[in-house]
Amino acid sequence: MKVGIVGLGYWGPNLVRNFSANPDIEEVVVCDLRQERLNLIKEKFPACKSINSIEELFKLNLNIVAIATPVRTHYSIAKKALENNINVWLEKPFTSTSDEAKELIKIAEERNLKIFVDHTFIYTGAVKKLKEIIDAGELGDILYFDSVRINLGLFQHDVNVIWDLAPHDFSIMHYLLDKKVNAVSAHGIANYYDHANLAHVSLHFKDNCFAHFHVNWTSPVKIRKMLIGGSKKMVVFDDMENFEKIKIYDSGIEMKNDESIHQALIQYRIGDMYSPKVLQTEALALGVKEFISAIRENRQPLTNCYDGLKVVKILEAADKSIHQDGKLIEI
Ligand SMILES: NC(=O)c1ccc[n+]([C@@H]2O[C@H](COP(=O)([O-])OP(=O)(O)OC[C@H]3O[C@@H](n4cnc5c(N)ncnc54)[C@H](O)[C@@H]3O)[C@@H](O)[C@H]2O)c1
Repeated sequence: MKVGIVGLGYWGPNLVRNFSANPDIEEVVVCDLRQERLNLIKEKFPACKSINSIEELFKLNLNIVAIATPVRTHYSIAKKALENNINVWLEKPFTSTSDEAKELIKIAEERNLKIFVDHTFIYTGAVKKLKEIIDAGELGDILYFDSVRINLGLFQHDVNVIWDLAPHDFSIMHYLLDKKVNAVSAHGIANYYDHANLAHVSLHFKDNCFAHFHVNWTSPVKIRKMLIGGSKKMVVFDDMENFEKIKIYDSGIEMKNDESIHQALIQYRIGDMYSPKVLQTEALALGVKEFISAIRENRQPLTNCYDGLKVVKILEAADKSIHQDGKLIEI
């Protein structure tokens, strides 16, 4: 297959490296508006062709266009690619609005093209292991999902911290819990310019489950942690750990009814903890492989446009909520 990669800033070079390394890719053509980025990639990957015009890129009979440009440009570049009958890989978040996402989905469906949304974490060994554990019922019913993703982050010009960081966590949550989000509320603060640099987002579901996400570009420490509480066991996923990324605690709370005093008693159960082995393969390499297989097999990739749309809907609702002092926004 032939792939074009648009946008060679911070993230794009990772796509170039992983597409170039895949044996099913015979040619990689890179594209950026900035000549210095094209020069840099040419130095590192001399086998890649480079081009500075998207119009020219789309004339090259490509099978895939991978787009790693700022989010406000995703829709227009992806639309042109689809209209040129090219399958699209889009970086997270899928689009700037759910209307844009729906339009891209419609074009892709009409032309039987595939859209891969790069929810990278779904391809990590840790998230795959968590999925196995949850699907096997080891945690019991999921009661809560609590996530923290904070550090001294790169401020984005066009989006706030939720659009930048939380797509990772929303996509992981959707993948693991497979529950429909009913409503969103969010609080955030913009200390430096128009966009919030710190935010807390809460998600509500039809059942008694609750999810909370804390994202921050202005934290002096880097924390990448998720806590998933189940009725049987609880899990901590710490992505900053090199080896024991997942710890499963056989701990919980049991309610006992004491007949004599007619009262519910809370009892803590504190059992063993174990840390399962997690595969270390690079997530992007697996994402590239999955997208190529999905195109060949004419099926949706594991992280597809419908997942992308679900995440964009939460992001939109979070923005609305922030502007209304945390009002609960239904989706
Ligand atoms: N999956 C992940 O883990 C992950 C990590 C970081 C960033 N991202 C995503 O990748 C995308 C890019 O982020 P970044 O941090 O690399 O941005 P960046 O600003 O560093 O790079 C964007 C590049 O796109 C180029 N560009 C912009 N418009 C263009 C156009 N019309 N044609 C050709 N080139 C164009 C710019 O010149 C720039 O080099 C964003 O959507 C971001 O959310 C994903």
